[in-house]
Amino acid sequence: MGNEIWIVALLLSQALLLPIAQAAEPHTERISGSAGDVLEDDPVGRLKVFVYNLPRKYNKKMVDKDSRCLTHMFATEIFMHRFLLSSPVRTLDPEEADWFYTPVYTTCDLTPGGHPLPFKSPRIMRSAIQYVAMNWPYWNRTDGADHFFVTPHDFGACFHYQEETAIQRGILHLLKRATLVQTFGQRNHVCLKEGSITVPPYAPPQKMQAHLVSPSTPRSIFVYFRGLFYDVNNDPEGGYYARGARASVWENFKSNPLFDISTDHPPTYYEDMQRSVFCLCPLGWAPWSPRLVEAVVFGCIPVIIADDIVLPFADAIPWEEIAVFVAEKDVPSLDTILTSIPAEVILRKQRLLANPSMKQAMLFPQPAQAGDAFHQILNGLARKLPHDRSVYLKPGEKVLNWTAGPIGDLKPW
Ligand SMILES: *[C@@H]1O[C@H](CO)[C@@H](O)[C@H](O)[C@H]1NC(C)=O
Ligand SMILES: *[C@@H]1O[C@H](CO)[C@@H](O)[C@H](O)[C@H]1NC(C)=O
Repeated sequence: MGNEIWIVALLLSQALLLPIAQAAEPHTERISGSAGDVLEDDPVGRLKVFVYNLPRKYNKKMVDKDSRCLTHMFATEIFMHRFLLSSPVRTLDPEEADWFYTPVYTTCDLTPGGHPLPFKSPRIMRSAIQYVAMNWPYWNRTDGADHFFVTPHDFGACFHYQEETAIQRGILHLLKRATLVQTFGQRNHVCLKEGSITVPPYAPPQKMQAHLVSPSTPRSIFVYFRGLFYDVNNDPEGGYYARGARASVWENFKSNPLFDISTDHPPTYYEDMQRSVFCLCPLGWAPWSPRLVEAVVFGCIPVIIADDIVLPFADAIPWEEIAVFVAEKDVPSLDTILTSIPAEVILRKQRLLANPSMKQAMLFPQPAQAGDAFHQILNGLARKLPHDRSVYLKPGEKVLNWTAGPIGDLKPW
């Protein structure tokens, strides 16, 4: 009974405060400190990238075979390639390049259900590296230390969707010296190597744009989530998927009126996020999901439930100020945690989220736009220059072992 009164009071207070939050949106808050400045860096003139020309089987042919690769959450690898081909940072003269880029689409080999098959990815990647090492002198000069790769798979260059297997595999040996641009990020994890650039997953910008509702729409949903709670096909006994965190969300809050959560994916999904105060972003198989991007774009405060996650462009975006972080073990008290956040803190997070540069940094629009995720990646690469002289090997010197790794990965592709 007491509980019910409390909920009504809370909903009322939300209803009152949220239109104010919305009204405040046009006056977006500038992000204090260096973070905002980094977001607005212009990378042009600060780096030169050489794009290797690979046979079509490594990239274009895969997309021709299955165009779903263009819209799934791993599509960054395709759009980064297209972006670089026409970017002013591209150089056609490898002798003057700071970075070398190998356009290989390792997540564009899909199951009938549309999920990337990780099993061939290591072989595709090895084959591409071999091609580059045979046909140009630059790979052998550093064993890949001035090369970067886009590896957007669940656990990056560990190339597996199940964490245990990903950890067992480790990062593909041939990529040990390269810089990885990847979606996966978790502190002290074998699948995130030092110096990697963590990027947002791909979420289709035009599609999201088409679903924008008026910014004065009140945020009448307190907590919103759509997605799986259990993955009975891949995790029949439970406990592995989302390390149990999603199951816990469901079990604790399925009948709590503050929580609008379900597995249904309604056609109003994007509109609903714009009507919500908090959007849950729990881990799934990997700690990240496109929900983070959707939440930022739709101004819904992301509630990040993924211990030790490393968020996209964390050196440029003040995630602590925008999002709410809840430890996986604290999921059972999610209701108390969220209802005890003071209204002024909620308002401030909403104002920061309304900042267009924040949204821009999460998106890969075509054509590219200043400050978007492509430019943040270039900024990240530019900040790593100049390369340390020690990366250049002596003639004949080798660091990488071409036959290291699981035997299955060594088969030609
Ligand atoms: C680079 O090294 C590999 C492996 O040792 C070798 O097969 C290849 O021919 C070298 N590439 C060039 C361009 O010399
Ligand atoms: C390379 O790795 C293979 C497989 O682990 C190993 O048998 C071989 O001895 C290694 N070669 C060198 C030069 O370390």
